[in-house]
Amino acid sequence: MQPKSLHFQFLTMLAFAFFGQAGQVQAQDAGAQLAMACGSCHGLNGGGGETIPPLAGRDKSELLEQMRALKEPHEGVTIMPRILRAYDDDELKALAGHFARMEP
Ligand code: HEC
Repeated sequence: MQPKSLHFQFLTMLAFAFFGQAGQVQAQDAGAQLAMACGSCHGLNGGGGETIPPLAGRDKSELLEQMRALKEPHEGVTIMPRILRAYDDDELKALAGHFARMEP
């Protein structure tokens, strides 16, 4: 009985530590959390790919303007309007800030 309940207590503590920390990170940098959804294409370091533009180290307001514009369908633009429609303006600001802070 004793070992089992200790084990349970440990797991509960671990869960609290984990979720507590995740919450803190999110509050500190919502942009970094949101940017995980971009990494599969733009690279986890924001460096882009063969046909994907890099985002890291770019000017924040330029990135923000680009994302706002890319919410609407444009000729030759395939993917971003579908993705960006899911984000509100605060989230776009957080994303732009995050990528602007990254090393190019
Ligand atoms: C499925 C792959 C994919 C994902 C995921 C993705 N992108 Fe893109 N992104 C592209 C492609 C491809 C382009 C080029 C324009 C187009 O075809 O939509 C692009 C273009 C951009 C541009 C314009 C850059 C320029 O120089 O023209 C920005 C800014 C951008 N993406 C930001 C983001 C952000 C922020 C996220 C995460 C919320 C994200 N992208 C997620 C594929 C992706």
